[in-house]
Amino acid sequence: MREDAMDKTVPAKPIQPQRLSAAAKKLKQSIEAAMAGGGPDKIQAQKARGKFTARERVHYLLDEGSFQETDLLVRTRSHDFGLQEKAASGDGVITGFGTINGREVCVYSQDFTVLGGSLGLAHAEKICKIMDLAYDNRVPVIGLLDSGGARIQEGVDSLDGYAEIFFRNTRCSGVIPQISVILGPCAGGAVYSPALTDFVFMVEGISHMFVTGPDVVKAATGEEVSFDALGGCEAHAAKSGVCQFVAKSEPDCFRQVRELLAYLPQNRWEKAPRIANPDPVRRATPLLEKLCELDPRKPYRMHHIIWQVSDEHKFFEVQSAFAKNIITGFMRMGAEVVGVIANNPAHLAGALNIDASDKAARFIRLLNAFNIPIVTFVDVPGYWPGVHQEHGGIIRHGAKLLHAYAEATVPKISVILRKAYGGAYIAMSSKHLRGDFNFALPCAEIAVMGPQGAIEILYSRELANAKTPEDRTRLRDRLTSEYSEKFASPYQTASTGSIDEVIEPSQIRYKIIRGLRFLKDKRMPGQFENRGNIPL
Ligand code: HXC
Repeated sequence: MREDAMDKTVPAKPIQPQRLSAAAKKLKQSIEAAMAGGGPDKIQAQKARGKFTARERVHYLLDEGSFQETDLLVRTRSHDFGLQEKAASGDGVITGFGTINGREVCVYSQDFTVLGGSLGLAHAEKICKIMDLAYDNRVPVIGLLDSGGARIQEGVDSLDGYAEIFFRNTRCSGVIPQISVILGPCAGGAVYSPALTDFVFMVEGISHMFVTGPDVVKAATGEEVSFDALGGCEAHAAKSGVCQFVAKSEPDCFRQVRELLAYLPQNRWEKAPRIANPDPVRRATPLLEKLCELDPRKPYRMHHIIWQVSDEHKFFEVQSAFAKNIITGFMRMGAEVVGVIANNPAHLAGALNIDASDKAARFIRLLNAFNIPIVTFVDVPGYWPGVHQEHGGIIRHGAKLLHAYAEATVPKISVILRKAYGGAYIAMSSKHLRGDFNFALPCAEIAVMGPQGAIEILYSRELANAKTPEDRTRLRDRLTSEYSEKFASPYQTASTGSIDEVIEPSQIRYKIIRGLRFLKDKRMPGQFENRGNIPL
C-alpha cells in the first residue's frame, strides 16, 4: 500500500464511546490505563524535578505522529513484595519505532513514574525486543534512560536483564548506530549499557551517572561529593569522557540527537545521507590564505580552519569538552559526510596525550564502522611529556590511535598545516599507515623532532665547546637554520612520496573534495573486516 493511501485509512474523527463494542471498550480501557504510567501524582513529581514524561520525550524526539508503540500491554512478571499493586502496564518502559527526519529508528524510553523506571524482567525483555527489531532491520536504536537501576524486588532476574541488554549492545556495536540519552539517574551497573553504545547525551541539571553514588563513596573512601560533582554533566563531559554531548534542556538534547543522526548511516552497509549542497566546491577560503604567514610559535583556532573548508561552514563537534587538544566531529564536504580529526594548537600546543589518543581512536573506529571517510588536519609537536603521562600509560593509549588509523579502510585524507613531528607525525594518518591522500602546506614542518631539540642532541659537544655564550648562540642559530632548511619543511617528505602533494592553503577545500570523489568506491576486501566499536 502506498503511504498516502495508508494515511487515508486513518479515521478523521474519534469513534464515539457509546458506539464501541465490548471488545473495543476493553481495548480502549487497557490502552488508557497503560498510557497513564505511574498516575497523576508521580507525573506531577516528575514535572517538579524539571523532567518530561517518558511519553513526552518520545514525542519530542521523533517526527510528529510517527511513533508506533510496541508492547504497551506487557505486564510486570514478579508478584514479590506487592509489585503487582505498584506495577503498571508497560512495566515502566515505552518501546517502539518511528522516524527522525523521515528515517526509521527504534526507541525505548524509561518511565520513572513507574517504580522509578527500575529494570525488572518484563522491562528488560521489552528493551531487548526493540533492540532485536533494530538489529534485524538495520536501523539505529535510541535509549532514553531515566531509572533507579536494577529493580530490587525482582532480584537476579533484573541483573540477568541487564546482561541481556549488554550482550545486545555489543552485538549491535558497529552494525547499527546506538545512542543513549541520560535523562535522570543512571546508577550502578546500569551505566554500562550507555557506555557500550556509540554516543551518550546528558542534560544539565537532571542527568547523573555513577557506578557507586555519593553515600557509598563517602562510606568507602571518606570523600564527600555531591550528585552533580560526582556524576553530572561536567564530570562526564570534561573529566571522564563518558558523555559526548551535553544539552541545556531536554528539547535542546532531542534537537542535537536529531542533528547527529543526519550525519550517520542507518547501518554499517549504508553510507551517511548526502544532502543538496549549494556550497561551491572551489569557493574562496580567504582565512586560509594567511595560514602560512602566521607566526609559527603562536597558536591559531583550528575550528576556524574547519569552518572555512566545510560545506556552508558547518561543523558538528563531538566530545568538545574532553581532551580539547584534539578535535573530533562531523562535517560535509561536497555534500558527503566526513569525520574530522584535528590537532588543536590552542590546547597543550596540540600535543597528543592519553585522553586525546583515546578520544580520537574511538571516533576513528566509529567512522570506520559506519563507512564515513576520515579527514585529518595535522599540527602536532609530538606527545605530551611527563611522568603522569608515562605512568598513566601513554604507550598503551597512544597505541590505540595507531591501531585505529592503521585498521581503518574508509577513505583517509590528511593535510599537514604546520608541525608534524616524530611518532605523532606517524600517528596522525600518515602515508605509511595507509593514508590515501596526504597533503602538506608549503609552511609545514615534518621531521623526527623540532629544530631546537634536534640541534641540542646532534651538536651537544660543539655547542658545549663554544668559546663564548655569543659564539654558542651564533652556532645554535646557524645549525637550527640549516636543520630547518633541510628537514623542517614538507619537501624532503614530498621527495619520498610520503606526502602526495604540497598544496597552497587556498586549495585545501577543493583538494579534499576531489580526493573524496575519487575514493568514493574505495574497497579493501579482506582487510580488517571486524569493525566493532569497542569503548576505548
Ligand atoms: C525498585 C526503585 C528503585 C530500584 C527507585 N525505586 N529505584 N524501586 N528498584 N532500583 C523506586 C522508589 O522506591 C520509589 O518508589 C520510586 O522509585 C522513586 O524513587 P525515589 O527514591 O522516591 O526518587 P528520588 O528521590 O528521585 O531518587 C531516585 C534515585 C533513588 C536516586 C534513583 O531512588 C535511588 O537511589 N534508587 C536506588 C538506586 C540504586 O542503588 N539502584 C540499584 C543500582 S545497582 P515509591 O513507590 O516510593 O514511589 C544496579 C545493578 C545493575 O542497578 C547491575 C547491572 C549489571
